[in-house]
Amino acid sequence: MIEQTNQKEVELIDLILKKKLPEHVAVIMDGNGRWAKKRGLPRISGHKSGMNTLKEIVKCSGELGIRVLTLYAFSTENWKRPRWEVDFLMRLPEEYLQKELQNLIDKNILIKAMGDLEQLPHRTQKAIKKAREDTKNNSGMILNFAFNYGSRSEILFAVKSISIEVTKGNLRPEEISEKLFEKYLYTSGLPDPDLLIRPSGELRISNFLLWQAAYTELWFTRVLWPDFKKKHFLKAIHDYQKRERRYGSIRI
Ligand code: IPE
Ligand code: IPE
Ligand code: MG
Repeated sequence: MIEQTNQKEVELIDLILKKKLPEHVAVIMDGNGRWAKKRGLPRISGHKSGMNTLKEIVKCSGELGIRVLTLYAFSTENWKRPRWEVDFLMRLPEEYLQKELQNLIDKNILIKAMGDLEQLPHRTQKAIKKAREDTKNNSGMILNFAFNYGSRSEILFAVKSISIEVTKGNLRPEEISEKLFEKYLYTSGLPDPDLLIRPSGELRISNFLLWQAAYTELWFTRVLWPDFKKKHFLKAIHDYQKRERRYGSIRI
């Protein structure tokens, strides 16, 4: 049951549930640093506060019945940040999972993680591995974290893996179709995102799901991630439901 927070949200949820939900929602969780700066706080308090938003959006997605929620938590480019910030961000998955894993298990959520996970500190890898293991038989929402994820490197990795198969003689170049290519991406088995939400006011994709977002509906807001609430999420979904997805065709 959806918690009845306020009348406006309840009405919006009613409207949303009457229409087709996006099957896969992806979110670029951006704006933590600016949120902290505005308050004269260190950047890491922005990341801490962003974690509360994360929890709220996971809860809301599960309640609505979204099938896949993909969250961009750390990009391959985020290593360029100062050491102290990277170290803090690396500890976040562990902290989040320590607090939330049981709740996610109870909610029948299946946890996935995509990205170059082998480059992460051992403790972070361990926490992610445990979460995947402990939720692997769950059949509810898929909660997919993009961590040390970069779409270009994902695509290159696919190209390299396919090239090896060709060199070995296991695959002929003419067999390389879009469908086959997708099997080599981290998102193999998942539907393409229907809706991509980016808070913080930036109007860019920042190396996120470049292949998969070919026909994704984009939704931007200036709201910073720690200020992003259930009402914004509901608004994004409601707006999405009003869009006409044509995929290059025309409406007859
Ligand atoms: C998003 O917030 C968190 C990560 C990228 C890991 P930022 O830290 O990018 O916040 P801004 O963009 O500086 O405000
Ligand atoms: C994108 O945000 C990555 C994540 C939210 C994890 P960034 O803050 O790294 O993106 P840019 O640098 O503004 O493009
Ligand atoms: Mg940012």
